[in-house]
Amino acid sequence: MSDKPRVLSLAQPTADSLHIGNYLGALRQWPPLQDQYEAFYGVADLHALTVDVEPAVLRKRCLASAAQLIAAGVDPTRSAVFLQSHVPEHTQLMWVLSCLTGFGQASRMTQFKDKSARHGSDAANVGLFNYPILMAADILLYNADRVPVGEDQRQHLELTRDLAQRFNARYSPTFTVPEPHIVRSVGKIMDLQDPTAKMSKTSSSPNGVVDLLDEPKLNAKKFRSAVTDSGRDIVFDEQNKPGVANLLIILAAFTGRSVEDLVEGFAGKGYGDLKVAAADAAGAEVTPFRERTLELLGEKTELEQILADGAEKARAVASRTIAKVYRKVGLLRRG
Ligand code: AMP
Ligand code: TRP
Repeated sequence: MSDKPRVLSLAQPTADSLHIGNYLGALRQWPPLQDQYEAFYGVADLHALTVDVEPAVLRKRCLASAAQLIAAGVDPTRSAVFLQSHVPEHTQLMWVLSCLTGFGQASRMTQFKDKSARHGSDAANVGLFNYPILMAADILLYNADRVPVGEDQRQHLELTRDLAQRFNARYSPTFTVPEPHIVRSVGKIMDLQDPTAKMSKTSSSPNGVVDLLDEPKLNAKKFRSAVTDSGRDIVFDEQNKPGVANLLIILAAFTGRSVEDLVEGFAGKGYGDLKVAAADAAGAEVTPFRERTLELLGEKTELEQILADGAEKARAVASRTIAKVYRKVGLLRRG
């Protein structure tokens, strides 16, 4: 048991590969936090059941997601790396929290509203409705202090904080109220084909989404065909030049240089130069990442052992929290 503060984040295995939005907005923030925090990083496989998926496909994606976390630098000897479904306390806590969540409050979650609007209310299942409450359980179970996520999860974090405070006020101080860790500059990477929309696994334009596990050549091509804006000058203007701004943000993130510095360097150059620079910088980091992931996927037994050890570490914390919560709400211990 460590006396360090805790960090937790999960990624959903809802596609064969994570994309550079997931990577820059969330995943890349995870490894550096392992130094100062006791870290819990995992794969939200239960969340992935909210969309219709073939069982064999889900199994493959779960392993691929775990491999990608490790390839990104999550170190299983320091962090608990686990699958959400291996720790049954997540769903146990979710039930208790769902009994503290107003129907109206859950109905106001914008991701739920968007998704159910897109699929139609009959296609939207109750799991999708409960999704943010399961996410709150993921976080509160470990008393996480910090949760590195992309901008799209801010509202879910607010709900989590609210539920923690409500439980603490109604029973007694139990849960840490978590802080989101959202890096503003990269919290919302946009689609390369439609830079007014967030890059997303469910995008209608596969060419706008750069998947980490795709062939490097294909990804370079996607950058080269990115939609830019009218005009010719490379300036940072998110309102009027969202395509150029997005490429600058991506290039800045991958090179560690500031946007201002980049803009200065591109004086007199054209959009084509910016696209090639972004493709090269992304490729330099993503290509070794991809190779490492494929290598890990070739060592399936080792990967499964990492996940078993991670679940063990996670359960040691989770089982204690759930015992405390059950006792506080008045559920009797089995004699
Ligand atoms: P998901 O794969 O949907 O579970 O997302 C994993 C993480 O990536 C979450 O923390 C999201 O907030 C983050 N994320 C997803 N899409 C983007 C994006 N386009 N830009 C930045 N972060 C993102
Ligand atoms: N809902 C998050 C997403 O779509 C994934 C997630 C599930 C998560 N549980 C979490 C993120 C707990 C942070 C903490 O990206």
